[in-house]
Amino acid sequence: MLTTSMASLADEIKQEIGNDSFSAGESHARLLQLIEELKLAVETPTETILRLIYQPPENAALRTVVDLDIFSLLVNSEKPGGISATDLSQKTKAERELIIRLMRVMTSLGLCVSPEPEIYQATDKAIAMTQPIGRDGVPCIYDLTLPALSKLPEYLREHNYINPEEYSTSPMQWAVGKSQFEWLAENKSHQTRFNSYMSSRRDGKPSWYNVYPIDRLTAGAVNHADAIFLVDIGGNQGHDLGKLHAQYPSLPGRLILQDLPKILSKVNKPGIECMSYSFLDPQPIKNARTYYFRAIFHDWPDRICRKILLNTISAMNPEYSRIIIVDFVLPDTKVPRMQAAMDIQMMSIGAGVERSKKQWHDLLTSVGLKITGIWNCNPAMESVIEVVPLADSSEE
Ligand SMILES: C[S@@+](CC[C@H](N)C(=O)[O-])C[C@H]1O[C@@H](n2cnc3c(N)ncnc32)[C@H](O)[C@@H]1O
Repeated sequence: MLTTSMASLADEIKQEIGNDSFSAGESHARLLQLIEELKLAVETPTETILRLIYQPPENAALRTVVDLDIFSLLVNSEKPGGISATDLSQKTKAERELIIRLMRVMTSLGLCVSPEPEIYQATDKAIAMTQPIGRDGVPCIYDLTLPALSKLPEYLREHNYINPEEYSTSPMQWAVGKSQFEWLAENKSHQTRFNSYMSSRRDGKPSWYNVYPIDRLTAGAVNHADAIFLVDIGGNQGHDLGKLHAQYPSLPGRLILQDLPKILSKVNKPGIECMSYSFLDPQPIKNARTYYFRAIFHDWPDRICRKILLNTISAMNPEYSRIIIVDFVLPDTKVPRMQAAMDIQMMSIGAGVERSKKQWHDLLTSVGLKITGIWNCNPAMESVIEVVPLADSSEE
């Protein structure tokens, strides 16, 4: 019985690889899902449980290897056969025996290869580990989330398993004394890594305007020097807006980047105007064509999201302005693992939520907004949600 399901999964995998577009979008996501299913079919229940139990030490070893900058040493090594544990020890000042133990984990994770005992070579994954997504993402997310995640079961037990719904009493607040943005603001190096990770974590993936037909915004937009085409609210240091401007240098109207003052203090990007602003206050930019929020609402519980939305609605021209939200829309079944895990992470560090279509609908209608469309090119990726005030009847 089990063998039959393995064989049919293997057949489906073969077919999907035979599909010319297997490296792109939906087909790519389906292939990964099938591989996951095959792995579970092959593993015994005991093997599955042991694999899960031993994930935390893998992450701790990875965090240490990134700290020691070992991936850069592998990538930049000029020795054709690979770099030895002894060389790594000399260059990092970490004891050779420790290097060997850490590198066993890295090779088992497929982040480098070991063609001979105690010799290591870079792979494409090692190269990614030297770029912002790995170099900054690994320590950023580890240091930000682990203290709260390790205490989450205790928090939930002590709070009688209520669903965390207040940023100010989030599990992270309880465990660490701060929720995510206060914690980041307090430490410059954490904040710098966070900003770098934010700008890199979607590398190689389509941008929102490759998924969503941007002519829905450009057509009908007022085109004069003072008009505001798009406000990127909580846009960090403008990575999204910079790419939009590079792809569409002649959009009708101005592009405004809003975030907290500390985040914007050194931002200087051509074609983009910076404005310090907290979205917990009323939006000062009135009648923009687009109010754009990417990966903002998943940070916050419904009560605060409603506040942010009402602050935005107060600035909108209901017949003209649109809200564009880019965030995950969780499917009702078969939620991709990363999205399910991210939901628990957001719950821990600020009582945030990854939302299903129904949760988005309930949140948005509760403040007098409606969804006019949801666009997605890959179930593993964020969706683009277009939103207008309820009275507007431009739904298609
Ligand atoms: C998860 S990041 C998303 C950044 C960017 N939109 C993206 O998708 O890469 C959340 C952003 O919200 C900003 N933020 C947090 N609290 C804010 C507030 N009260 N007002 C404005 N921005 C805020 C953070 O500084 C951070 O840049």
